[in-house]
This record gives sequence, structure tokens and C-alpha cells, in this order.
Amino acid sequence: MSHEYFNPVRSVYGAGTLSSLPKLLAGRRALLVTFPEARALGLVGRVEALLGDRLAGVIDDVRPNPDVAELRTVYESFWRDAADVDVLIALGGGSTIDTAKALMVGTEGGRFDELLAALGSGRPFVPTRTKTLFAVPTTAGTGSEVTPWATIWDRERQLKHSLHLNETWPSLALVDPELMLSLPAPVTLQSGLDALSHALESIWNVNANPVSDTFAVAAAQEILQTLPLLMERLDSRELRGRMALAALKAGMAFSNTRTALAHSISYEMTLRYGLPHGIACSFPLPMVLERALGRRADRDIVLAQALGPNAGAPQRLAAFIERLGVKTRFADYGVSDEQAEQMVAHALTGARGRNFIGTMVKEAA
Ligand SMILES: NC(=O)c1ccc[n+]([C@@H]2O[C@H](COP(=O)([O-])OP(=O)(O)OC[C@H]3O[C@@H](n4cnc5c(N)ncnc54)[C@H](O)[C@@H]3O)[C@@H](O)[C@H]2O)c1
Ligand SMILES: [Fe+2]
Repeated sequence: MSHEYFNPVRSVYGAGTLSSLPKLLAGRRALLVTFPEARALGLVGRVEALLGDRLAGVIDDVRPNPDVAELRTVYESFWRDAADVDVLIALGGGSTIDTAKALMVGTEGGRFDELLAALGSGRPFVPTRTKTLFAVPTTAGTGSEVTPWATIWDRERQLKHSLHLNETWPSLALVDPELMLSLPAPVTLQSGLDALSHALESIWNVNANPVSDTFAVAAAQEILQTLPLLMERLDSRELRGRMALAALKAGMAFSNTRTALAHSISYEMTLRYGLPHGIACSFPLPMVLERALGRRADRDIVLAQALGPNAGAPQRLAAFIERLGVKTRFADYGVSDEQAEQMVAHALTGARGRNFIGTMVKEAA
């Protein structure tokens, strides 16, 4: 069987690599996009000191789950004033990197509604102008530093948009695990489970290939070993480094397959029940694994590499997630059996749900 794997992102990994930013920028002018706590953590000051007059400005008010309501103003002022900016440096979690992906693609008139209309129309959108993106993750989770997509939320209309263009690949992922040392326990857990979900979702996926499998298996094994240890020792440089690398590998895996049923379920759980992304996409993993096993012999083999013997794997995965303090049944989140059934049926018809191998007819025994 032939296959193709593509990822154009240059990745630079290592403790302290933030200080290589000036060299990587090579004289270009940059604008920093970051999260509110970054200033108090000293991160904004560090980037200011590193870049000097190469730093054209700072946007430091990116909140979790970028929403159309907040993005409109920042997008329009960015495209009004940023003529001299070459590179956007997104320093933060998935919310920050996804915000920068929305900013980097300019519409003709610089109006955000033009971008939204293009996303809603389903027609291909070709930006009139673009900026280069450097993604510097401060969480070990979303993999957004090596994927071309961004999730843009619309809480008022209870929906989410997926931005995905050839132009929204970052050109650089600068992964410095020291930036993750300040990450509080709840976000460490949520983002770590998000990465586990990316790894598994790329295995029970119709788009899986041997290269994505290699990344996914390594990522899942490392997360299963490392995340419980890290939750006991949040200040461990070594464990932060291992999780950062595992999340990067999971990102490399699903950058080619996209996600599947667990993520399709997660969007509704976040919009309707307010669950953080990493919890919403990981609590259903044991249930999705149960549905995946036995569907395709080749997937069963890869799942066994990632999770151990297929027999009992859903129970072991549920026990792993529950030991980290995350409940794994819909009822635990106030969703009745009937609502859950409807939600799963609906999720299977969504774009991500259709990537799940379990939507296909079972192979003949
Ligand atoms: N583009 C993709 O491929 C992709 C994949 C998965 C998730 N996502 C999106 O990413 C978002 C979730 O991202 P996330 O889990 O990385 O969290 P986040 O970016 O939403 O950040 C969570 C919280 O942690 C804080 N924070 C981040 N880094 C910190 C640090 N080093 N120290 C202290 N505080 C820090 C943030 O300010 C925020 O309050 C969701 O909106 C989700 O939809 C995108
Ligand atoms: Fe995710």
C-alpha cells in the first residue's frame, strides 16, 4: 500500500531554546502574541530583551478558547497597523497559537467578518496577504505548533469554526520545555490528556499511515508513562521535557490524519457543558476505543503497540484517566444515556467523526 506524509514545519526542541529567537528571526520584524499571565511570568520581558527594536508590538490578552467576539477587534487593528510586521510569534498554549493562525491570514479589506464568511461558506479561501508564524508552545498538548488548523469558537451561536489553509502552517515550532514549568496542575493535566487524545485519534483514523502511526505510538507510550509522574512533580525539568516531546510527536501524527470521534464529541461538550478542551476530548477515549477494537486488524495491532494487549485495553485506559482524577462516563458530566447516544450519533456524522474507523462496516471475520 502506498502512502504519503507531509509536514512542512521546522521544529527546534530543547530547554532554553527560546533564546535562539533572534537567530531564527534573522533580522525580520516580529509581533508577539501571548497570554495574559506571560508578562508577570517574565516572558514578555525576556522576548523584549531578546528582540530589541525587531519587536514591533505585543498582543498579550489572549484568553482560553479564542472566540469570534474577541478576535474581531484584535484582527482588525492588527491588519490596520501591522504593515511592517513580518513574523507573528505565538508564545502560549493552543489558544494563543490558534489566535495567531487567525491573525496571520489577511482578507482584502482587513475585516474579520470577511474571514468568517469565507469559513462559513465552505468555499476555498485565499488570503490576500499573509504573515509568517513562529509557534512557541507553553503547554504540552495541542500540537498546534505543527498543524495547519485552528479552532475558532462562537459561544453565542454555540458553534466552532475550523480554520485550515495551506497558509496556516507555522513555519517554525520552537519547543522549549522550560516555558512549561509555570503551567498550573489543571492545565498540565488537560493539555497532557489532549495530546494523548491526538495520538489515539490518529490511530483509529481512516487517514492513518505508517509514519503517523510511528509518531502516535511513541507519543501514547510516553504520555502513559510520563503524565502521572509529572502530575506528582510539576517542577521536574526532565518530565516537562518528555511531555513536551510527546505532545510534539502526537501533533506530528494528527497533522496528517486529523482527529476523529472523541474530538467530534468534545466540541459539543465544550460548548454545551463548558468542559475544557483536554477533558472534553479525553473522557470519551475508553468508549471510543471500545468501538474501535475489532474493526480493522491493522488498527488493532497499532493500538496494541500503543496501549498493550487489546483485551481489557478500554478498562485499563479508563482506569488510567480516572486515576488522574478525570471521570470517563457521560453521566459524570450530567449527560443522560439517551443524550449521550444522540451526541455520539451526531458526532459520527461530523467532519471529524467521519475519520473514525468505527463508522465503517466491520470487516468480515
Ligand atoms: N490547532 C490545533 O490543532 C488544536 C488542537 C487541540 C486544541 N486546540 C485548541 O487549543 C485550546 C486549548 O489550548 P491549551 O490546552 O494549550 O490551553 P490554553 O492555551 O487555552 O491555555 C490554558 C490556560 O493556561 C494558561 N497558560 C498557558 N501556558 C501557561 C504557562 N506556561 N504558565 C502559566 N499559565 C499558562 C493560559 O493563559 C490559559 O489560562 C482550545 O481552544 C482548543 O480548541 C487546537
Ligand atoms: Fe485536541
